[in-house]
Amino acid sequence: MPELGRDSKPLTIALSKGRILDQTLPLLAAAGLNPAEDVQKTRKLMVSGNADGQEIRFLIIRAADVCTYVEQGAADLGIAGRDSLLEYRPRVYEPLNLNIGRCRLCVCGPEALVNAGPPERGSRIRVATKYDHLATEYFLSQGVQAEIIHLYGSMELAPLVGMAERIVDLVETGGTLKANGLIEETTLFDISSRLIANPASFATRRQQIQPMIERLRQAVEKKAEYQA
Ligand code: PRP
Repeated sequence: MPELGRDSKPLTIALSKGRILDQTLPLLAAAGLNPAEDVQKTRKLMVSGNADGQEIRFLIIRAADVCTYVEQGAADLGIAGRDSLLEYRPRVYEPLNLNIGRCRLCVCGPEALVNAGPPERGSRIRVATKYDHLATEYFLSQGVQAEIIHLYGSMELAPLVGMAERIVDLVETGGTLKANGLIEETTLFDISSRLIANPASFATRRQQIQPMIERLRQAVEKKAEYQA
């Protein structure tokens, strides 16, 4: 494994809570980055750890906030979904596709409505989503006026209660859509998690960050070989 550069200040890595953490932790372990305690159980939001005996820190935060912590320099590195990067456009570097958290960002709707065809140009529809910008841009490109209804989760409920005609949300297995009588209309983007870096940290702490990226790159490649 690439040897890590030394620095007195611990390198800080922001991780997303939620289901993506299950896939993140084995990748970190394979790259030799080890939290000192079980980040899935602890209520602590900042957990210390080590890499080759060198102290590092993990921040355990909501997926959408990882971009903010890294952009602000509160974390040097972070693991963020491509969905958040596309929606929030943070000023960060994106040195590595980690190939975990794979899913797609889709326009979906009730089966009968979707089968009747896409909304007509010039029409108005209500769209429930947490991806306000991406949804607005997409429907604008289709000549459709979208009234965005911002939700923080469980978007699939909105069409069931007559609050929206479409949703824009992540689809992984399709199980949530199916259970709620919805189907996909269009895929907007393929999504996976990316390693992101604060540009100033990347420049000033390169000796520490570059070997970290290389270790993660090797772990991603090894996983891909194993799965092939
Ligand atoms: C995500 C997403 C969908 C669901 C899709 O939600 O927003 O609701 O997973 O997964 P599936 O295709 O495998 O069913 P998540 O469970 O992360 O919670 P959230 O609704 O709070 O965002």
